[in-house]
Amino acid sequence: MAGDITNLPAGSRLQGGKYKIIKVLGQGGFGITYLAEQTGLGMKVAIKEFFLKGSCQRDASTSEISIPVTDNKELVAKCQKKFKSEARKIASLNNDHIVNIIDIFDENGTSYYVMKYLRGGSLADKVQSGAMPERTALKVIHEVADALESIHSHGLLHLDIKPANILFDERDRAVLIDFGVSKYVDSQDDTTTTSSLVGFSRGFAPLEQVNATITSLTPATDLYALGATLYNLVVGMAPPEASQVMDSGLPEMPSGISDEVKNAVTVSMQPRKKDRPQDVRSFLDLLPEEKAADAGGDITIGVPDPQPEPSVPVKPKSGIPWKIVSAVLLCASLILGILLFTRKESDIPDLSGEVATLTTEKEDLQKQVDGLQGREKSLTQTNSSLRKQVDDLKGQVSTQNSRITTLQKENATLQRQVNEYKPKAERWDRSMNSR
Ligand SMILES: Nc1ncnc2c1ncn2[C@@H]1O[C@H](COP(=O)(O)OP(=O)(O)O)[C@@H](O)[C@H]1O
Ligand SMILES: [Mg+2]
Repeated sequence: MAGDITNLPAGSRLQGGKYKIIKVLGQGGFGITYLAEQTGLGMKVAIKEFFLKGSCQRDASTSEISIPVTDNKELVAKCQKKFKSEARKIASLNNDHIVNIIDIFDENGTSYYVMKYLRGGSLADKVQSGAMPERTALKVIHEVADALESIHSHGLLHLDIKPANILFDERDRAVLIDFGVSKYVDSQDDTTTTSSLVGFSRGFAPLEQVNATITSLTPATDLYALGATLYNLVVGMAPPEASQVMDSGLPEMPSGISDEVKNAVTVSMQPRKKDRPQDVRSFLDLLPEEKAADAGGDITIGVPDPQPEPSVPVKPKSGIPWKIVSAVLLCASLILGILLFTRKESDIPDLSGEVATLTTEKEDLQKQVDGLQGREKSLTQTNSSLRKQVDDLKGQVSTQNSRITTLQKENATLQRQVNEYKPKAERWDRSMNSR
């Protein structure tokens, strides 16, 4: 008996030798990720193999994967289908901050996708040594937000944003890996699709994901996780679990963190989805503005530019230069006029997030009103039908009562006749017998 192993051993070959397994990089609930070599180019790649923990089993001699429990077969097949369709969708997204998928194939009774190998380590490694400067954290968050915007614009959700799923490439750019679209499965009947979630990451997953109400997952679900990631980076500690945030709110953040970042984290980690930013743009609006600094091209975030102090005190000149004063006043009033009449679009506060939240709230309330109106209508119908039945029964009772009265009267008449004819009949009998 060959026995069972979980992962492909080092040296295993895939696609007729095109890829050679070097080692396992990690294993999650959904699959095993390997470091491998693309032998033709002598290039390192990362390969993710679909392997649903607890349901899949590998034969050591053939590397073939089987599903020993028949009941699990359907679930595994659905997850595998999603794994592949998600990989294809991700491969079509052209974004520097989304991992590059270069190949997809089936082998060993399962599916694989091949990614560009990212050699810069993970964000989780970087934050292990403690909180990072706000500016560094915000650079990463902006890059991940860019990736998320692209994902959301294609109707996808990531569903597992966290520092362990953010890696760095050779140019130190943040790159998102481990897409979670396949972390839930749909079961479909004729009219409805019901989905259930397979796993989530504590602290980064909001309540709607923890409670596995998949239909309620929206971009705001990913934005909770992005807010939790920002918390992790600037606080240097794991974010609290969603239920804890629900019960007692977020713990107070250290005073060194800017008010804008604290607010961005607090708003995006709101337990109620509708209280969070609804899209990446609204999330980014919460962050401190990125300001291009001088020649060095460095970026200063949220720190007001210091006003240069004049090194030599300026000596006031004697006499008032009226021509200059009036020219300055004229220019100032012209500028003021122009400013007042040409208010830039960017000056107008962006209320789109608030409008979206209020619209959702209005739609929720309208649904409740519609529901209550429906209930009132059905109660009114039941009421009138019962009233009709009572009226019918009352009618039947009164008909029966009058029939009883009539019968009683008839009976009384007949009794009188019996009383009247009975003595006559007796006399008649006696006279007949005496003959
Ligand atoms: N493209 C990649 N380049 C380098 N390392 C990767 C790559 N993709 C995944 N990894 C590493 O493999 C491990 C697991 O990958 P991941 O896709 O997050 O799967 P899971 O979390 O389901 O185990 C992680 O440690 C990650 O750093
Ligand atoms: Mg992962």
